[in-house]
Amino acid sequence: MPTVKFIKEKKEIEVPIGANLRKEAMKAGINLYPGINGFGACVNKVLNCHGLGLCGTCRVNIVKGMENASPMGTYEKLRFKGLTIPEPVALTACFAYIGHEDTMRLSCLTQVNGDMEVETGPELNLFGENFFS
Ligand code: FES
Repeated sequence: MPTVKFIKEKKEIEVPIGANLRKEAMKAGINLYPGINGFGACVNKVLNCHGLGLCGTCRVNIVKGMENASPMGTYEKLRFKGLTIPEPVALTACFAYIGHEDTMRLSCLTQVNGDMEVETGPELNLFGENFFS
């Protein structure tokens, strides 16, 4: 069984091959909805698309083992590029994606096929070198 290590939470779980990353994380008590850099986390916990791939708030960085994640589908790619529903919260996923194109995934659209290390709630860096530059 693949192992998923959640770096911030310092928690490791074993999941069945092909398991949905969001569902397994939530079963393990991992919070995938931190709001925007922690702001609005309590609202985000309730107001999200519950795994439909619409809101973009369940994004994670797969820092190790990206090759063990299911390939990114067309819809997820469009979601990160802002070419689906143009609403403000979902657009934060587009901004967060900049500079993390090789590691960022929507956990609700990711299947685990092998070991990986995951950073939940990657911060949105509006003023770093990857944004507005
Ligand atoms: S839960 Fe909304 S995009 Fe994953």
